[in-house]
Amino acid sequence: MKEQLLTRFQTVFGRAPEVVAQAPGRIEFIGNHTDYNAGTVLGASIDRGVWVGYAARTDGQRRFFSDLSGQILTLGEKDLAKQSGPASWANYPLGVLAALPVFELKTPGGFDFLAISNLPVGAGLSSSAALELASALVFLKATGQNPPRETVVKIGKHAENNFVGVPCGILDQGVSGFGLKNHLVFIDCRGPKFATVPLPAGAHFWIFNTHTKHALVDGLYAARHKECMEAAKALGVSALVEADLPKLEASKAKLSPTAYKRAKHVIEEIARVEQTNQALKVGDLKKVGQLLTASHRSSQTQFENSTPELDTLVDALVATPHVFGARLTGGGFGGAVMAMTDSTFSETQARQVAATYAKKYGSEPELLHCQTGDGAKVV
Ligand code: GLA
Repeated sequence: MKEQLLTRFQTVFGRAPEVVAQAPGRIEFIGNHTDYNAGTVLGASIDRGVWVGYAARTDGQRRFFSDLSGQILTLGEKDLAKQSGPASWANYPLGVLAALPVFELKTPGGFDFLAISNLPVGAGLSSSAALELASALVFLKATGQNPPRETVVKIGKHAENNFVGVPCGILDQGVSGFGLKNHLVFIDCRGPKFATVPLPAGAHFWIFNTHTKHALVDGLYAARHKECMEAAKALGVSALVEADLPKLEASKAKLSPTAYKRAKHVIEEIARVEQTNQALKVGDLKKVGQLLTASHRSSQTQFENSTPELDTLVDALVATPHVFGARLTGGGFGGAVMAMTDSTFSETQARQVAATYAKKYGSEPELLHCQTGDGAKVV
């Protein structure tokens, strides 16, 4: 992909980039909507991502290009206006530029900037976090700054929360920033604290991207966020991580039935993350798989962020030999299902699952067989 980036940069801007950075997409392994509740979560950075090229300009112009729009967006050095329509992809690097001073870091002047990706957009694999991290790395490198990795991750989250306007947690940026091949990233969102956990050999990831996206997905994500905050308030805790099931049951009358279900999901999901950590330590992939599927069932019935399309895929997958477990990955309300399988699960089996889905919904989901990969870096 680096070669492709270099060629594309040359074609579009007529010169070579001075700095190139790459940031991976991520799989949300387990810990659904736990991050902004100050809970714990496990994710995997994958061997697909976003590559960004950068070269300074002396005329103060900032030029942005991606095949997503196919057009050069030219802005002035001080122009941080939010973009809409085809140019809205540029809100991620622009959000990073707006975030840098908040972290007392310098911003670059004029530049040419180009991004390419081999991550499907809208599949719940965090192409946006990957773009934020790769952007942050080129801007920092170009200005000779090297803040701690935590800061780079927080810059990405700040861009997403404040410029793009999604109240996401630290999962996506944290995993893209701290990823390591053959490992999962464990995040305790209270610090946040980041650690890597070895992934037992023989675990394979398959992504089934439905290409469906609820029309109100951003609003629904924000609504879940709000319901969780309301539940925490009613329980008298600052975040749901501080509640437990006995407390929830004792306070049931104070919560709306919806807030109760959301809180129950989050509390039980945090417990599942811990159980997953234990099972990973002893290499029990069967147990890990059961926890993944249990997480999906909880999303389906309690957090209500699944869709019939995602449920159909999970049902078909868990009935297929060599599948340890399957669940929606990411925010939900459409997007993709990930399955963890053993190494003998075959493309033919994946195609059968896709065919079952197509029988019901008319078209096949996109299939991706992923490996884990390293975190964001200048390349
Ligand atoms: C999206 C958000 C993450 C996280 C997940 C759900 O991916 O960006 O911060 O909340 O949804 O777990």
